[in-house]
Amino acid sequence: MAVGGGCGTGAVLRPTSATQAMVNAPVRSEKNNLRGVASVRSRFDLHPNALTRAIMELRDKNRPIIDLAISNPTTAGLPYDAGAVARALSDARSITYEPLPFGLLGAREAAAKEMSRTHPVDVERVFLTASSSEAYSFLFKLLCDPGDDVAIAAPSYPLFEHLAKLENVRVSPYRLAYDGAWHVDLDSLGRAIGKRTRAIVIVHPNNPTGSFVSKTELAKMASFGLPIVSDEVFVDYAFADDVMRAKTAREAEDALVFSLGGLSKSAALPQMKVGWTAVTGPEALVRESLERLELICDTFLSVGTPVQHALPLLLDAGARTRAAILDRTKKNLDAIDRVIGKNSPVTRLRVDGGWYATLRLPSLKSEEEWVLELLREDGVLVHPGAFFDFESEAYVVVSLLTPESELRDGVGKIARRAEIG
Ligand SMILES: Cc1ncc(COP(=O)(O)O)c(C=O)c1O
Repeated sequence: MAVGGGCGTGAVLRPTSATQAMVNAPVRSEKNNLRGVASVRSRFDLHPNALTRAIMELRDKNRPIIDLAISNPTTAGLPYDAGAVARALSDARSITYEPLPFGLLGAREAAAKEMSRTHPVDVERVFLTASSSEAYSFLFKLLCDPGDDVAIAAPSYPLFEHLAKLENVRVSPYRLAYDGAWHVDLDSLGRAIGKRTRAIVIVHPNNPTGSFVSKTELAKMASFGLPIVSDEVFVDYAFADDVMRAKTAREAEDALVFSLGGLSKSAALPQMKVGWTAVTGPEALVRESLERLELICDTFLSVGTPVQHALPLLLDAGARTRAAILDRTKKNLDAIDRVIGKNSPVTRLRVDGGWYATLRLPSLKSEEEWVLELLREDGVLVHPGAFFDFESEAYVVVSLLTPESELRDGVGKIARRAEIG
């Protein structure tokens, strides 16, 4: 099952070492004179794991599933202004093709305006891609040679490993530590940075921990002297203000910073396929980056013309959906606390923003056992912490995008299952 596609719809437990060994083994043809598919970068474990198999079994039996792993906003019962979206996409100017590597000026201006809600950014420093996932692939091409690595937080968004591998880049994890709130473990970041590290990736707020990088952490991270790739796709979804928090990594003015956003989260329109990146920091580095990126973008020219013309209106129309998501995620967070109550063996970890919440279950059972039992016995689908590389067990991640009554129902079942033990 796929892990990504931007929406991370796949539920995947870690592959077993046996399947991993199969993945690492070279593919050979029975006829020696035939050359087959050889690249290691495109060799992934495609075997369904235990959770995927359990989901398929339930679906075969038509058993209902309470999906607490939903990450696709367009199927979460949220309000969309479909008329405004359709009108935005019917701009007659789209009949003319203007192949501009960084995108049409009007679209870049709309993206720059969107980003300027956190910190001003000059349109000349903004370029468009088909998604933030594609922006990562362009940035890895810009910054890394095969075998180089990028420092990435753990726990975090699982697609990074795939995005990096597809560019022949390695992931060097640094730790996020939890002590009632999440912090960047700066010692662990120091250890993660080696001779071949080419960038530090920040997710702000992080998926799934919902934690933001503080101003102090950002300054310390910038002091390593590496480019910072800051994924700010969820930046609009903070539950409360906090003056200690960096508004955006662009505040680190001495570092070369690539800050990423996109329609998929900002306007909850992943199907439109538009992401944006701002390049900021010391002038000479920014200029060189933009020159090289222009060629990379020009090689693909991947953003469609209609959606570029539509972008300003899509962002306007998306404001309503964004507000509805923020309202729902906050209510769902309160609902989780009410349903779990004070004396439950389940605890919710602190979360400051984003679309997810993490629950800790008693470690009487392995995470895999909890997740499979919840699915088979209670029909509740959650993502295991292992999916995001939590350093210990047993954590499950639930989506705050879930319609409110389903979320209450599903979390109630998790709480009861944990009480039974
Ligand atoms: C942290 C993070 N970055 C990027 C993405 C993907 O965004 P896009 O659809 O723009 O590729 C996701 C999707 O869930 C995400 O969680």
